[in-house]
Amino acid sequence: MDDRPIGVFDSGIGGLTVVKEIMEVLPYEDIIYFGDTARVPYGTKSKETVIKYAFQCIRFLLEKNVKAIVVACNTASAAGLDLIQQSFDLPIIGVVEPGAVTACRVTNTKKIGIIGTEGTVSSGAYERAIYNIDNNVKMILKACPLFVPIAEEGWQNTDIAKLTAEKYLSDLKDSDIDALVMACTHYPLLEQTIKEVMGEEIRLVNPAYETAKVLEQMINSNGLKNKNPHKALYKYYVSDNPVKFKKVGENFLNKPIGWVEKIDIERY
Ligand code: DGL
Repeated sequence: MDDRPIGVFDSGIGGLTVVKEIMEVLPYEDIIYFGDTARVPYGTKSKETVIKYAFQCIRFLLEKNVKAIVVACNTASAAGLDLIQQSFDLPIIGVVEPGAVTACRVTNTKKIGIIGTEGTVSSGAYERAIYNIDNNVKMILKACPLFVPIAEEGWQNTDIAKLTAEKYLSDLKDSDIDALVMACTHYPLLEQTIKEVMGEEIRLVNPAYETAKVLEQMINSNGLKNKNPHKALYKYYVSDNPVKFKKVGENFLNKPIGWVEKIDIERY
């Protein structure tokens, strides 16, 4: 039994797609969320910069006495989850492996599309994770960088989102994939729009649910579960503009975000 909170971080609002699943799967776990909204996007930055940012986010969360950390950002997970795990003395999980596991489970044709940031696509992390599970799977990868600011603006259900999705996804739509991994934590905010463009027959994979299940296993196997059946506490921190985060975040989580504090991440 360990009643300390779980730390979750992302470059911005997107990690809330993972938080939403954690809230469902682990209802008694308190959560400290950090969104690095001053430095989003991570997806266009170099691997070194993203790793430096991830280390700062983790140092901030450690100051909040978290018992485990979820790197709820594909770009940061893809850039260096191994290095991150080796560098800190607490359990840390990412989102790439859970996404790969889910994709391999749902595909029948063994042809999978993967959409993510430029950083995630060029890292080769998804190819490695999927080949580890099944080396007969064929993949088509596509970076969709504009989905990130669209989600951050809360424009996911607008004509702008639809046109952008049509442009990015046309090759994937004309291919023979049967599953599409939303390998960026921001993309599930556009799930409805992506579904409309790709058609109902394509399975959209959101790694967030599987990530929450991996977290649950990890918490249980490390004796870290909070067994006190209380109303969980959620605290949110950002590096810029708490008002916007609150507005877009509440819309997405479908619940009030009581309190968002801005911190100076460069101090960490
Ligand atoms: N959170 C990032 C990811 O999942 C997307 C946004 C960004 O580029 O920072 O890859």
